Amino acid sequence: MNQKNFIRAKTKEALEAMSDQDYIRDSRQIAEHLVNSSYWQASQLIALTISRHREVDTYQLINQAWKEKKRVAVPRTNVNEKSMRFYELSSFSQLEKRYSDLMEPLPEACTPVAEEQLDLIIVPGLAFDQSGARLGFGGGFYDRLLARVGTKTVALAFSCQLYPRLLTEAHDQLVDHIVTTDGFVR
Ligand SMILES: Nc1ncnc2c1ncn2[C@@H]1O[C@H](COP(=O)(O)OP(=O)(O)OP(=O)(O)O)[C@@H](O)[C@H]1O
Ligand SMILES: [Mg+2]
Repeated sequence: MNQKNFIRAKTKEALEAMSDQDYIRDSRQIAEHLVNSSYWQASQLIALTISRHREVDTYQLINQAWKEKKRVAVPRTNVNEKSMRFYELSSFSQLEKRYSDLMEPLPEACTPVAEEQLDLIIVPGLAFDQSGARLGFGGGFYDRLLARVGTKTVALAFSCQLYPRLLTEAHDQLVDHIVTTDGFVR
């Protein structure tokens, strides 16, 4: 197993070991820090993915965005092209389950959003470090997207997803900010 896959496996194990209680409490704290930040407040169109398993809960963030009359964009992946296309989500009924339990927007039910229009991208990932290095799920989808767009990025992480130093490759894109239960750590 290479080093990235080793860290991915180790982090998944730590995430799965989180109790429901910790998961709910920590997700709520992280969301609170994000929503109170100037990055969130200054953004009108926010890109998010639909959380699954033990990813920081994004359902509450999407509901909060709608409540604040912000717009939410969710990516739909094309696995052959390793690309993503964003769609505006206005209801959770516009989602369908695709690969590995990932919920993605139904193109026929949503309006496409040009990626240049996004004000803020909440970047999913398994592991992060202080320098903004990020380990995703291994497809290179976000590395490709972030290499193209200059949009501000924020990652949400439980403490077990933070490492002192992650090994990166030349194509790996850094995230601008990281929010934990303690607030912005970068
Ligand atoms: N800009 C790019 N152009 C072409 N290939 C890329 C690019 N970025 C990443 N890749 C390829 O994608 C593959 C997966 O990359 P990596 O292991 O960094 O995934 P990841 O960061 O975990 O995934 P993701 O970005 O989807 O969260 C690698 O083989 C890498 O070479
Ligand atoms: Mg990468």
